[in-house]
Amino acid sequence: MLERAARLLASSRSAIAFTGAGISAESGVPTFRDRDGLWKNYKAEELATSEAFRKNPKLVWDFYRWRMRLILKARPNPAHYALAELERLGLLKAVITQNVDDLHREAGSRNVIELHGNIFRVRCTSCSYRENLKESDTLEEFLSMEGLPKCPECGSLLRPDVVWFGEPLPREALERAFELAERADLVLVIGTSGVVYPAAYIPYIVKENGGKVVEINVERSGITPIADVFIRGKAGEVLPRIVELVKEVVV
Ligand code: OAD
Ligand code: ZN
Repeated sequence: MLERAARLLASSRSAIAFTGAGISAESGVPTFRDRDGLWKNYKAEELATSEAFRKNPKLVWDFYRWRMRLILKARPNPAHYALAELERLGLLKAVITQNVDDLHREAGSRNVIELHGNIFRVRCTSCSYRENLKESDTLEEFLSMEGLPKCPECGSLLRPDVVWFGEPLPREALERAFELAERADLVLVIGTSGVVYPAAYIPYIVKENGGKVVEINVERSGITPIADVFIRGKAGEVLPRIVELVKEVVV
C-alpha cells in the first residue's frame, strides 16, 4: 500500500492534500469526533454556532481561548513536515485544510488553504476589522484578558475568525480549493472523518475528474468508499515513510 501510494504520488503532476483534525492529533490537538474528541465532551451547538455566540459570548470566548492556549503549546508533527517537504519537492500543489491550528504553515507549507478559518485570527461582528493575533504580538494580552474582546475601530464585539456550524465557508478559499480539486490528478486525504460539507466534497471532486484518492487514517471514514488506496495508520508515521519512498522513485 505504501509503495503504491508513493508510486502514484511520484507520477502525479497536480497532487493536493486534504487534511482534518487527525493530522494534528499527534501534536496533542484534540480531534472532534474521536473517543476523546471535543464534540464528545462538549455540545457543538452550544459553542460553535453564531446563535450560541449571541446568547453567551463569554462561554464561547472561554472555549476558544482555551483551545488557543492548547494549540499554542502544540508543535507540528512529522506528518505536517512531510507535506511541507512534498511541496518543496514539487509534488504537492497545495494543502487544503479544515484545521484552524496553523500547524501546516508552521511546518513550512506555503500554499495552505484554510476552509474553516484560523483560531489565531479575530474579526469584528459589525465592521470589516480583522486581526491576526499571532502577527500583532497581542496574543498573551488577549489570552489573559478578563472581559470580552472589543473592536478597536468601532467598539463592537470581536469574534473568532472561524467557521461555525450553519455558516458559509470563506468564499475565496472555497473557490480556490474547488478549482485545485478539479485539476488535481491525486488527493491525499489525511485524518478527516469526511462528514462535514462542503469541505468533504474535495475528494469527491478529484475522483469525479479522474484523479486518484489516497487516504491515510487510523480508521475508515466517509471518504474511504471512494479511496483508491487506503492506508490504515497514524499520519505522523505513515507520511514520512511515503516521502522516503517517493524520494527513491523520483531521485
Ligand atoms: P474529526 O474529529 O471529525 O475526525 C478526525 C479523523 O482523524 C477521524 O477520522 C480519525 O479516525 C482520524 N485520526 C485520528 N488520529 C489520527 C492520526 N494520528 N492519524 C490519522 N488519522 C487520525 O475531524 P475533522 O474531520 O477535521 O469544523 O472534522 C471536520 C470539521 O468538523 C472540523 O473542521 C470542525 C468540526 O466540527 C468546524 O469547526 C467548522
Ligand atoms: Zn468593528
